[in-house]
Amino acid sequence: MKQLNAGLIGYKFMGKTHSNAYRQVNHFFSDSAKINLTAICGRNKSAVKKSMDTFGFSSFETNYKELIKRDDIDFIDIATPSNAHLEIALMAADYKKHIFCEKPLGMNRREGKQMLDAAIKNKIVHQVGFNYRFAPAIRLAKKMIDDGKLGTIYHFRGLYLQDWIVDPNFPLVWRLDKNICGSGANGDINAHIIDLARYLVGEFHDVMGMTKTFIKERPIVEEMTGLTATSNSSGKKGKVTVDDASIFMTHFKNGALGTFEATRFATGNKNNMSFEINGSLGSIRFAFERMNELEYFNNEEDKQLQGFRTISVTEGSHDFIHAWWPPGHVIGYEHTFTHEFSEFAQSIINKKPAIPDFYDGYMCNVILDSVEQSVSERTWITIE
Ligand SMILES: NC(=O)c1ccc[n+]([C@@H]2O[C@H](COP(=O)([O-])OP(=O)(O)OC[C@H]3O[C@@H](n4cnc5c(N)ncnc54)[C@H](O)[C@@H]3O)[C@@H](O)[C@H]2O)c1
Repeated sequence: MKQLNAGLIGYKFMGKTHSNAYRQVNHFFSDSAKINLTAICGRNKSAVKKSMDTFGFSSFETNYKELIKRDDIDFIDIATPSNAHLEIALMAADYKKHIFCEKPLGMNRREGKQMLDAAIKNKIVHQVGFNYRFAPAIRLAKKMIDDGKLGTIYHFRGLYLQDWIVDPNFPLVWRLDKNICGSGANGDINAHIIDLARYLVGEFHDVMGMTKTFIKERPIVEEMTGLTATSNSSGKKGKVTVDDASIFMTHFKNGALGTFEATRFATGNKNNMSFEINGSLGSIRFAFERMNELEYFNNEEDKQLQGFRTISVTEGSHDFIHAWWPPGHVIGYEHTFTHEFSEFAQSIINKKPAIPDFYDGYMCNVILDSVEQSVSERTWITIE
């Protein structure tokens, strides 16, 4: 059995999902490699040591440079905020380590391009963390579109709605600091629906957007876990430097129209990532909080019997499901990560490119930057 030694950087939200996925990959996908939890890295010694014990790693490092230099590491997994992606990736590529990097790939298109170029130059396997592509329902949507079941595509209507910062006293976490994350709802959550639109519908021709920062100052943060946080007791406030909401339109190169709405102020919506695609022969709808289902309208059926039907994407013939449970025994958020790391491990052992790769991450950066440019110039921006 092939084995791969992981070096994971970052031990919080994504660090937890990724390390859980490593454990599941070989348990369920026996044609994939066994991923060893070799080393975990973070800057705080006691916290990273605790994560090593909790997640089951064999060792830890407090400096990512030492991790990358180790001979016993096959791939580097970057699960840090965006401002650390570039420097880690450039060094890891130099050391010929394969790289998995969370989204958005770079802080901007320039960084994304540097990372893509370094990965190509060093002939490593590179993958970007667009995990929603690995939901079986998304694979079914892709197959239906490629098989022509929707006919000519007219519309992609994407939403990514959350509400975790709607309270003006929610603290100033790193996701609200442009120097750390690059952008707000745009890069954090629009990134996912942009990637799905590229995957399902195709490349963008141009974009026109608007963004808004509703709450301009927030209390200084004490600690953040997942999407919850506590404020510092000083009572001091700091400036929010990113968008709270980002909405834009696109013309796809194939003639379809797209609309995208990403916000953290959609009260009542927790992780409502959803879209509808309309074509000449039918439509599909997907909502991540019901990720085991895909809605399908067939415009060629008898009009008297027409209507959206709900497909339970849990048959063994649906992508990835053969590895899991019998029909109707649903899967969840964490499974998307197991699937993406199975893809990554198989790409490394079979020496084939991973999908989605740094090119997909770079293209997403290009579109995100173009949305911001269109907001500042108040005009349509052509995607180069
Ligand atoms: N695919 C998804 O659905 C998804 C979901 C959430 C976050 N993300 C992405 O994952 C990345 C991490 O987000 P998160 O939510 O896990 O953040 P987090 O705040 O929960 O964890 C970040 C981790 O990075 C560590 N870190 C920060 N700078 C570092 C450095 N210079 N060296 C070593 N460690 C460092 C922190 O100590 C922490 O362990 C971001 O790029 C984010 O956009 C993706």
